[in-house]
Amino acid sequence: MDLRKSVLWTLTTVLCELSALKCDNVVPRAPPTNNYTVTDGNVTCVVMTAGIRLAIPYVTDTKNETVNITIPQNGTTYSGMCSKPDGTNQLNINFLDNWNLTFIFANSSTLNNSYEWQLVILNYIIDKSYFPNATNLGKHNLTLTFPNGTNAAQFNGSYRCDRT
Ligand SMILES: *[C@@H]1O[C@H](CO)[C@@H](O)[C@H](O)[C@H]1NC(C)=O
Ligand SMILES: *[C@@H]1O[C@H](CO)[C@@H](O)[C@H](O)[C@H]1NC(C)=O
Ligand SMILES: *[C@@H]1O[C@H](CO)[C@@H](O)[C@H](O)[C@H]1NC(C)=O
Ligand SMILES: *[C@@H]1O[C@H](CO)[C@@H](O)[C@H](O)[C@H]1NC(C)=O
Ligand SMILES: *[C@@H]1O[C@H](CO)[C@@H](O)[C@H](O)[C@H]1NC(C)=O
Ligand SMILES: *[C@@H]1O[C@H](CO)[C@@H](O)[C@H](O)[C@H]1NC(C)=O
Ligand SMILES: *[C@@H]1O[C@H](CO)[C@@H](O)[C@H](O)[C@H]1NC(C)=O
Ligand SMILES: *[C@@H]1O[C@H](CO)[C@@H](O)[C@H](O)[C@H]1NC(C)=O
Ligand SMILES: *[C@@H]1O[C@H](CO)[C@@H](O)[C@H](O)[C@H]1NC(C)=O
Ligand SMILES: *[C@@H]1O[C@H](CO)[C@@H](O)[C@H](O)[C@H]1NC(C)=O
Ligand SMILES: *[C@@H]1O[C@H](CO)[C@@H](O)[C@H](O)[C@H]1NC(C)=O
Ligand SMILES: *[C@@H]1O[C@H](CO)[C@@H](O)[C@H](O)[C@H]1NC(C)=O
Repeated sequence: MDLRKSVLWTLTTVLCELSALKCDNVVPRAPPTNNYTVTDGNVTCVVMTAGIRLAIPYVTDTKNETVNITIPQNGTTYSGMCSKPDGTNQLNINFLDNWNLTFIFANSSTLNNSYEWQLVILNYIIDKSYFPNATNLGKHNLTLTFPNGTNAAQFNGSYRCDRT
């Protein structure tokens, strides 16, 4: 029996700041919160409430700069998959112009009957409007692989992102 067929797994992430894709509990101004729910047939595998701010590094002629980009409420869409062939669940968030952020959740390596964050991948585009004087224009991506045990939540549990 596939446990996931009978289990509703909830992940709640509140005001999570991904600072260069690292969770940070110091949130200067709370980013707007979105709800993300991934359902496959009658199985819901991801429920996440998150305000996400990304700190994105770029370069100009003279400096290494960082710009904070908040995932907006307007114009943001998402999709996802439950129980992919490798056993992971996935959430894709699409925002701005062809930006996307993918979360991959896997069975926890440290707790039974739990998921944890495995990977977060950000695809983004450096342009002049968001990144003043940028010289590294174009498509970029950032991938963060989490240490085992990061943000583990029980299949039916919830998680609040309030840690570093
Ligand atoms: C997210 O869900 C909560 C609880 O269901 C609801 O109160 C809130 O308005 C929702 N937020 C958005 C942006 O839809
Ligand atoms: C989910 O759907 C499958 C087939 O569509 C069904 O066999 C199963 O009983 C359903 N599970 C629940 C919890 O409704
Ligand atoms: C930007 O950072 C890179 C790598 O840390 C460094 O090699 C480079 O000198 C820095 N550039 C400037 C302009 O500070
Ligand atoms: C970006 O956010 C960091 C905190 O994560 C803050 O210290 C910094 O001042 C912000 N930068 C800008 C330009 O708002
Ligand atoms: C989002 O869109 C709605 C309707 O188009 C608009 O009223 C609202 O001002 C927009 N909010 C932001 C933050 O742009
Ligand atoms: C994940 O855990 C569930 C329940 O414990 C199990 O049925 C499933 O086979 C595991 N998936 C993988 C890829 O290990
Ligand atoms: C995310 O963006 C990358 C690069 O633009 C693209 O190759 C990929 O298909 C996008 N993924 C999704 C789920 O939209
Ligand atoms: C993390 O977990 C995976 C699979 O559960 C295991 O293969 C790997 O050795 C673990 N890595 C560390 C550093 O413990
Ligand atoms: C996890 O499950 C295995 C096999 O069912 C069991 O041997 C082990 O003690 C469990 N670990 C914890 C921490 O509950
Ligand atoms: C961009 O470059 C111009 C000309 O060098 C400069 O005046 C301006 O302050 C720079 N803007 C930023 C945000 O660095
Ligand atoms: C991510 O960026 C690297 C170069 O930094 C590139 O080789 C790779 O193809 C990119 N991956 C995607 C999915 O765009
Ligand atoms: C989640 O499942 C565990 C073990 O199956 C149970 O002890 C706990 O009460 C459940 N929590 C919720 C919120 O349903």
